Amino acid sequence: MAADSRKMVVVTLLVIAFLSYSSYIYYRLPVNKYAVDPNAEDGKMVWQKYNCNACHQIYGLGGYLGPDLTNIYSLKGADYIKPLVNFGPRTMPAFHLSDIELKDLIAYLKSVDASGKSDPRTFTIHSNGTIAQ
Ligand code: HEC
Repeated sequence: MAADSRKMVVVTLLVIAFLSYSSYIYYRLPVNKYAVDPNAEDGKMVWQKYNCNACHQIYGLGGYLGPDLTNIYSLKGADYIKPLVNFGPRTMPAFHLSDIELKDLIAYLKSVDASGKSDPRTFTIHSNGTIAQ
């Protein structure tokens, strides 16, 4: 009898610990921190249509023939990216995107840039196990 009630106390404490930790973590998620520009959503379609991810990474994921483009917008800017995509530097193919596709692609790269960093050495690891960029 006593052993059963001790088990119940332990199970109750575990459930309380689980619920407290989960609500603490989820309460702190930056869910609505980044509003997504509708042009950026179209730009993601451009990114996928031309398969940029075959050679480039976003947030460190993708192909490795070209460089990671997570922060290309803040590093080099739209005026650098636009002609480069259309004419293709060295081993990258030229894509000849329309003005609208190019505008949407830039909006996508801008939103990606605002939402994260690709270099894990710049991340901050909190004591509760979460990571901030
Ligand atoms: C076949 C592989 C390949 C594909 C597909 C590709 N790229 Fe590239 N890209 C490269 C390579 C390789 C480089 C580096 C060129 C160099 O400087 O030698 C590059 C460079 C770039 C750069 C310049 C990066 C910097 O730091 O200067 C940008 C911006 C870029 N690509 C955008 C794009 C976009 C947008 C797409 C899709 C529309 C795309 N690329 C598709 C291979 C590719």
